[in-house]
Amino acid sequence: MRGEAITTIVTIAVIGGTATFMLLRESRGRAIYLDHCAGCHGVYLEGAPNWQERLPDGRWPAPPHDATGHTFHHPDELLFTIVRDGPQAVLGPTYRTDMPAFAGILSDEEIRSVLAYIKSTLPAELREYQDLMTRPPAARLLQP
Ligand code: HEC
Repeated sequence: MRGEAITTIVTIAVIGGTATFMLLRESRGRAIYLDHCAGCHGVYLEGAPNWQERLPDGRWPAPPHDATGHTFHHPDELLFTIVRDGPQAVLGPTYRTDMPAFAGILSDEEIRSVLAYIKSTLPAELREYQDLMTRPPAARLLQP
């Protein structure tokens, strides 16, 4: 009986602690987003106007990070790499882009916080989809 009570208390503490950690991380992430990302990707994550048309210099405008964009199609580690090392890390060194690499500007933890914030704004079904994309391919195949 006493053991069960302790287990319950520990479980509640762990769940509460995790939820608090996630909320703090998301609110830190929001502040970082507003400081470092909103200028291009929009305060409401809406992206640049006409983001699906190339700019006169051939580069792409900043896409939205909301449900209308494609950010949520990418697994966690790919998003992390794009933000830390820039799109060239994924698309090759000759790729020309206005998206900066944030290595040396934001810490890894700050990058994870800003991505946690972006994810927290997505509707539940898109968050689930993005979680699925983050799983290894074999686990994805097991999905109904
Ligand atoms: C100077 C403008 C600018 C800033 C500041 C900026 N971005 Fe970007 N971002 C872009 C552009 C432009 C692209 C499109 C990349 C390309 O050329 O294909 C992009 C692409 C991305 C992508 C890839 C989206 C996808 O669906 O492939 C992610 C993720 C991203 N940005 C996150 C961020 C985050 C997080 C921040 C802030 C820490 C940030 N960006 C700051 C301009 C910017």
